[in-house]
Parts: sequence; C-alpha cells; structure tokens
Amino acid sequence: MKWHQAHTTWFFETFVLRPCLPGYKPFREEFRCLFNSYYNSLGEAAPDKRLRAAFSRPSLDEIVAFRTHVDEAMEALFVRHMSEEVTRRIVLGLNHEQQHQELMLTDIKHAFFSNPLRPAYDAAPFIGVHDAAPARFTWHRFCAGIAEIGYPIDSTNPVDFCFDNEAPRHKVYLEPFGIANRAVTCREYLEFMSDDAYTRPELWLSDGWEAVKKHAWQAPLYWERDATDSTGWRIFTLRGWHPLSELLDTSVCHVSFFEADAFARWKRCRLPNEAEWERAANGRSIHGNLLESGRLHPAIASGDGIDQLFGDAWEWTASPYTGYPGYKPLPGALGEYNGKFMSGQMILRGGSCVTPATHLRATYRNFFQPETRWQFTGIRLAA
Ligand SMILES: [Fe+2]
Repeated sequence: MKWHQAHTTWFFETFVLRPCLPGYKPFREEFRCLFNSYYNSLGEAAPDKRLRAAFSRPSLDEIVAFRTHVDEAMEALFVRHMSEEVTRRIVLGLNHEQQHQELMLTDIKHAFFSNPLRPAYDAAPFIGVHDAAPARFTWHRFCAGIAEIGYPIDSTNPVDFCFDNEAPRHKVYLEPFGIANRAVTCREYLEFMSDDAYTRPELWLSDGWEAVKKHAWQAPLYWERDATDSTGWRIFTLRGWHPLSELLDTSVCHVSFFEADAFARWKRCRLPNEAEWERAANGRSIHGNLLESGRLHPAIASGDGIDQLFGDAWEWTASPYTGYPGYKPLPGALGEYNGKFMSGQMILRGGSCVTPATHLRATYRNFFQPETRWQFTGIRLAA
C-alpha cells in the first residue's frame, strides 16, 4: 500500500512537477528511481517488481510527507497558467491514480489471502446477498454490419480523456452474433468443475492446459474446499470467507482467460471479441455494481436487457491486446504507459465491483496476461 501511494505521487512529481513547475525541488532524488514502475526511458532501471512489497523503508510517515510535498506543489501549479499539455498530464495522473485505487483493493485481497490468518478487509456482511433469483439466461442478437468502436477523442479539449489505447475510433465489420444477457454465475461454473473440466485436455487451449497442470488449478482463485458447505467449497472475499452455497447466483470471478475460454468451449459457445462487446455496450450509461456500491464482490444479475456490462467482474474477451488502426502512443516516456504491453495479453471489458464509476467508459480497454487471476475477472458468453 505504501508503494501504491508513493508511486501515484511519483507520477505527478515525475511527469508534471519536475518538467512543468519552474523551481520545483524534488522531495528526495532517490524516489525518482525507487517508485518508478516500468518507464525504462526515464533512465535508471526501476526496482524489481517482486521486491516492491519487501521495502520496509521509507516509512509510511515519509511517504505521507512525500505526498504532502507533492500536493502543495500541485496547488502552486494550479494558480499558474497551465498549458494544455500540463492539463492533459494531470488528467492522466488522476486516471492513473484511479487504476491504482482498484489495484490496491485487489492487492489487499491477495495479501490477506496469502496470510495464514486470512483477515477480512471489511468484516461487515454483504448487502443483499440473498437477493431474488437471478435473471434467466437469454441471448441478445445483433445483426451483421459495420460498427464503430473506440473513443471519439476531442483533441481540442484537454480534459476530454481516454487512454491512448482506446483511440482512434474506427469501423469494424461484425458478422451476426449473440451475446449473453448476464455474466456466468458461480453455479454454472461449479457445473463445469463437476463435469471434470479441469482434467479434460480437450476443453483447453494448449497454453491453458499447461497452466492448469503447472498451477494445479482445480477451481477459481480464492475458492477453497469446505466440507461443511453443501457445495463443498467456500470463497475468500474482501469480507472474509463466505460459503459458496450463498454466492451461487453471483458472477464467477478470479478466473484466468484460459478458464473463461475453456468454460465457453464446454458450453459450446465462445467469448465475445472486444468489438462485439463494445457494440453491445455502446450508448449505455455506466451503471452497475461498481466500487461505489460498497459491495466489494460481484452481485446477482437482475436487470432486463443486457445486464452486468459494467461492474461485477471484468469480462475476458477473445481479442488480443493490440493497437487500433492508426494507434499512436503518447509522446516521450508516457508512451510506455500502454503501448509497450501490446504483446501476449488479452483484452477485458466493463470494469469490476472495485472499479470507480467515473473511471470507466464503454470504450475502456483493460488488458492482462491470460494466466492472470488476481483481478476480479469473469466470463460472458457469446455465440
Ligand atoms: Fe502505475
């Protein structure tokens, strides 16, 4: 948590204050390297990512003082005339910080799960855990045609924001497709597990089958066998352990791309590609079980129409993470923010129960390696 707080502060010091506030004095010169995440073009190599949590110094007090120092300098900057470029960097810094706020919750969950005491982040019970029956599964059909995807950025407005990887808006041709009205539930995923899916190589991509064997996967991350529950399982949540029998109708989460793909194949369906997903989400308001709900876990689908597009769990798509036609990374070191990860990762859409609503867009492209499971990642079927 200290690293996240220091790194989001570092972002403003490095990309806003050092280059743009005349006379700015850095808080501590060594922080330039210490809290760099992955920007190689800044010079010195950043510390090994795996060691981040191991540094007991600087202390929390010093990081809070670093934050205060940067906050005060930002306020000094605000009273000056700010160029459009400075404004754009500040807006990017705020969106970066929102990303880290989500990562803090998913990192806390993983850290607490890794602790033998298995502490709860928030011990208050789930709100509405015994909600009404979930929405019945249906398909929503879309005709063939040209769709426009990507964010239509207004380049004359410095506070109109999207990440560089969401632009340019462009046309794609889509064959007719169907998309599920809701995300896959824990009940459905348990049926997949009960059909011996984790021991049937024919259901898995080659790399997925290797991952199943390498990690001895038998269930989503945070599921643990529990003979006292009728399902035989319990789930670790940000509110501590919960019997699976009480979460059966909630969306399954903490599955890898490989598990999402294998589930879809078992269902004789497939995952949507990102253009199909965006076509389904286009024009909808950002509404759902997001961070502001305070639930901190996926909920039960209940709405009419296509539900759960935003919130609950990020939805793996079948689309590899690449640049859109005409994609241009930001100039300079900030070009490393997104563009250099366009290899070996898959696109996820829609945000999760720990994503702030103001952070999302229908065009938002998240990306992770296909083995990743520590984010709130789930499944929506397409056909
Ligand atoms: Fe970052």
